[in-house]
Amino acid sequence: MFKFGINSKKFITPEKTENLVLKNLEFNVTENDFVSIIGPSGCGKTTILRILAGFDKDFDGSLEYSPKSDNYYENFESLGKIGYIPQEFSLFPWLNIEKNIRFGLNIKNISKEDQDETVERLLDLVGMNEFRKYLPHEISGGMKQKIAICRALAINPTSKLIVMDEPFSALDAQTRNSLQEDLLEIWRKQKLTIVFVTHNIDEATFLSKRVLVLTKLPAKVLKEFNIEIPHPRDRTSLEFNKIRKDLLGYLN
Ligand SMILES: Nc1ncnc2c1ncn2[C@@H]1O[C@H](COP(=O)(O)OP(=O)(O)O)[C@@H](O)[C@H]1O
Ligand SMILES: [Mg+2]
Repeated sequence: MFKFGINSKKFITPEKTENLVLKNLEFNVTENDFVSIIGPSGCGKTTILRILAGFDKDFDGSLEYSPKSDNYYENFESLGKIGYIPQEFSLFPWLNIEKNIRFGLNIKNISKEDQDETVERLLDLVGMNEFRKYLPHEISGGMKQKIAICRALAINPTSKLIVMDEPFSALDAQTRNSLQEDLLEIWRKQKLTIVFVTHNIDEATFLSKRVLVLTKLPAKVLKEFNIEIPHPRDRTSLEFNKIRKDLLGYLN
């Protein structure tokens, strides 16, 4: 289980004043959880993910992974076990899909055979084997995000925790829906633990085991929802829409 406790996170504004972004934000994430975080724009969601992924360590609080009592960052970040997928993931435009996935493996001195095996497995996982020689500009936005997921999984082969920052927000509704289904399949197959930021209530309801609703700045957890509807979820069902309505109530 992951125990995240951020007592405070501040930024200094250009006017040299303090901007207290997170205050007493606490939440736990269990193994194989799918936790979505929703909240008003600018409430600190990206900041939270950057802290979890180890890009920002300038905060007051503690991140723990139990039962191991070791340092969270030593266990996860330095071992490359946290996958981070930003809102707009940039692939290298001059490298084809296969080479984009392979890129992180090259840096890590992984043997050619192991690289081949990983690339095959991931291309199969997202159903993109036939596009392996395509350049990024030759595939759709949805496909690019799938490759982004592959890259995160390739670089972190033992990755258990994946944090995703509004990864589907630039996509049209139909592509988004089908990627949500793909993501659930990857989550199941790879036994991942996912922390997923979105501002889309439908998306959070479709995907998550749990949803955390954050307050405005300084952000803390306003409400936690457990969603017990079994997958695959029907977006038009009564129970689905009941949850959507409840979530919406907390956001306004
Ligand atoms: N690198 C930074 N330097 C200064 N302020 C920042 C920085 N990153 C984010 N902020 C501030 O932190 C707050 C939360 O930002 P962010 O985490 O991006 O929100 P969200 O992802 O929920 O929209 C905003 O007020 C933003 O201006
Ligand atoms: Mg953000």
